[in-house]
Amino acid sequence: MIISLIGYMGSGKTTTGKDLAKAIGYEFVDLDEFIEQKYQTKIPEIFAAEGELGFRKKEREALHEILTNTNIVLSLGGGTPVYYNNMEEITKNSVSFFIRVQLPQLVKRLENKKETRPLIAHLTNDELTEFVAKHLFERNQYYEKAKYTINVSNQSTLQVLDQIM
Ligand code: S3P
Repeated sequence: MIISLIGYMGSGKTTTGKDLAKAIGYEFVDLDEFIEQKYQTKIPEIFAAEGELGFRKKEREALHEILTNTNIVLSLGGGTPVYYNNMEEITKNSVSFFIRVQLPQLVKRLENKKETRPLIAHLTNDELTEFVAKHLFERNQYYEKAKYTINVSNQSTLQVLDQIM
């Protein structure tokens, strides 16, 4: 079985995924890390050299490859469910969880973590709220196709893990 974690940047998919994998004895795979290893390039460099479209093509191929595995916890990128028919493939081949974090908390978490994320790296902290709000409005319809939704407000990672279990 593949367990996939879906959600916006900064929602804690990677941290939660690592803990979940450990708890159930599955291997952990982070899609962004997989892409960086596969292509020997950092995500911001892919965006700079090939634009977002180039990144999305690589992301699509990597996703397709990973979904042939079994017994893994897969943490997806914030935009993965939105492109091509990725969400259909994700729901067909994995048990999917949408980690839903409220807007103010997401923005707070992202304020100091913008540099490695090309879509928000150029924004000031003031611009961030408006950008994330609009982005979530567009993306939630894809995220909501996940099999389960985990609502996170102020829970610790451990409590989030508990809810998934
Ligand atoms: C993106 C999210 C990032 C990464 C890329 C694009 C997005 O992953 O894939 O910067 O479109 O939301 P995280 O959600 O792990 O930050």
